[in-house]
Parts: sequence; C-alpha cells; structure tokens
Amino acid sequence: MEYDQLLQMFLDHQGEYLSGEEISNRLGISRTAVWKQINKLREQGYDFEAVSRKGYRLVHQPDKLKHLDVVKALQGCQYGGQLKLLETTTSTQEEIRIWADQGADNGALVIAEEQTLGRGRQGRRWMSPSGKGVWMSLLLKPELPLADASRLTLLTAVAVCRALRSITGLEIGIKWPNDLLINGKKICGILVESAGEDGKIRYCVVGIGIDVNLEAQDYAEELSHRATSLKIEGNQNYDRAVIIGAVMKEMEFLMTSFLEQGFSTIANLWEALSVTLGKTITVRTYQGEMIGVAEELDSSGGLKLRKPDGNIEIVYSGEI
Ligand code: BTN
Repeated sequence: MEYDQLLQMFLDHQGEYLSGEEISNRLGISRTAVWKQINKLREQGYDFEAVSRKGYRLVHQPDKLKHLDVVKALQGCQYGGQLKLLETTTSTQEEIRIWADQGADNGALVIAEEQTLGRGRQGRRWMSPSGKGVWMSLLLKPELPLADASRLTLLTAVAVCRALRSITGLEIGIKWPNDLLINGKKICGILVESAGEDGKIRYCVVGIGIDVNLEAQDYAEELSHRATSLKIEGNQNYDRAVIIGAVMKEMEFLMTSFLEQGFSTIANLWEALSVTLGKTITVRTYQGEMIGVAEELDSSGGLKLRKPDGNIEIVYSGEI
C-alpha cells in the first residue's frame, strides 16, 4: 500500500525532488519507512537520484506491462478475454495448465514479466529475464484430432512472424518447424504442448517466447551467436503490449481460417515465410539424423525431405 502510494507520488511529480520529510508527512509514515520503501522500489528496477536538502527524484522506471495497456491492445480479440498478468512465475506453461484443469476457457492467456524456469523444446531452458520479453502461454481448445497439434505449431509460427514483421518491418523468417530468425539468429521460440483424449485434442498450450527488448549483455557467451532480440536488430525499444495484441489477433484470425477452411492457406503462408525450404539440411529426430533438401510442407504439416538417394522422407518433429 505504502509502496503503491509512494510510487504514485513520484509518478505525479516526475522530474521533481520530493524530500523525505514531505513524503513521510503525506504518507503518514516514518522517515525510515520512506527509505525502506524507496529501496524496495529500487529492487524493482526504479532508479532515484538522491540530493541532500532536496530529496529524491525518480530518474528511471522499469518497463512494466500494465494490465490496462494489454487489455487495450487486445481489444476486438476474443483471445486474452481471460487474462493473467504475473510478475514472476516458474513457467507460464505450468500456470496455464493449472488454469486449464480448473476450467479456463478457449483463448485464456497467461503472461509473465519473468520466468524462473522457462521451458524450451526438447527439455531445454528458456531464458526469460524480467521486463524484457514477451513470455506467454495461450490455451486453445479446438475440436481437432490430436494429430493436428503439429499444425498448430506451424500456425503459431506464421501468426507470430506476421505480427512481428508488421510491427517492426524486420525481415523475420521461419526456420522449420517454428523458430523465428532474423539474420540467422533466433528471436522467438514456440512450444506447443497438448493434452488429448480418445485421439482428440482436449486442450493445447501454446507457449510463445519473444526476445523483445533484451540487450547484447543479456545473452550469455554461448547464446550470443545464436540468439538476438528485436531491440538489437531494430535499434529501438518495442512496446510489449502492442506485440501481445498483434500476435493474439493473428492467432485468432489464422485459427478461424484453419477451422473453417482447412490448413492449406496456413501452409502456403508458412512456406512463403520459411527460410528452410530449398536448403540442404540435417534434421536430428528421435530416430537419428537425416540429410536432404527441404522441399515443401506435406498436407499434414510434416516437412518433405528429398534424400540424397532421391527418395522423399516426411519428418514431423526434430531439430535442424
Ligand atoms: C523453444 O525451445 O524454442 C521454445 C521456447 C518457448 C518459450 C516460451 S516462453 C513462454 C512459455 N513458457 C515457457 O516456459 N516456455 C514458453
């Protein structure tokens, strides 16, 4: 409470110094309590200049997603109608799973400022520092066979790619099946996890991690040659609420198209954005490695590989 009131005071007096005495009188708390609350704000990424006889001046605010901004950006979109915006969590995938089991609806969305145990594909960790990315999980309950879950992965890649291209103007492409790259470096990862029943999808959890405003120093040495952010590539900060809104709108649009008209439009869009097709690639699958030229998507969303012996092999999951 004191913390919120103190923050509001500084926000109402931006650029001005507020003395410890003035704050303590207005909030009815001791000078020591004021100092403690200021330190709490500092821990949250707020920065203050302290000048003797003048007081404190707010000089930097952390980039925080505000519930209202996200709701505004989602206007006109059913996805995100049920919304949780968390300061920190282990993984939004876990949060939405629990919510799904408690009865959350199709389109429910969980967003976190920070994930302490962000999950990537194939059991890897996903680095999710506070306030710098979009870390979110969307709940989908389409009436589809479980075998269509891999199509949802491709659809998500198309949705995020289209949204980010239109916001940033950057040349973003899709590496099979669903990594988004700029200049060969990854800026977004997608993890679709499904729960099924009698061969049908009960629900799908679509996890999307976008490196939005990370800086070069946020990447560990081993990641820096493989990963990048929109900020590094576009030389500017991007509004994360706007990105969330645009991605959800694309997701909803493409899901409607998929459910009403089938997958071929999505497959065409995926192929047009792909940076994989036409290249000779090595795919690591659970069955071992496979080399071939990536020719096209097959009707069920698998990748058609022409092997050196001329035969076609279709791969449904794996790592290039
Ligand atoms: C990948 O390995 O490329 C997939 C990364 C998916 C990361 C996102 S961030 C939001 C959601 N929560 C998680 O724990 N993982 C996904």
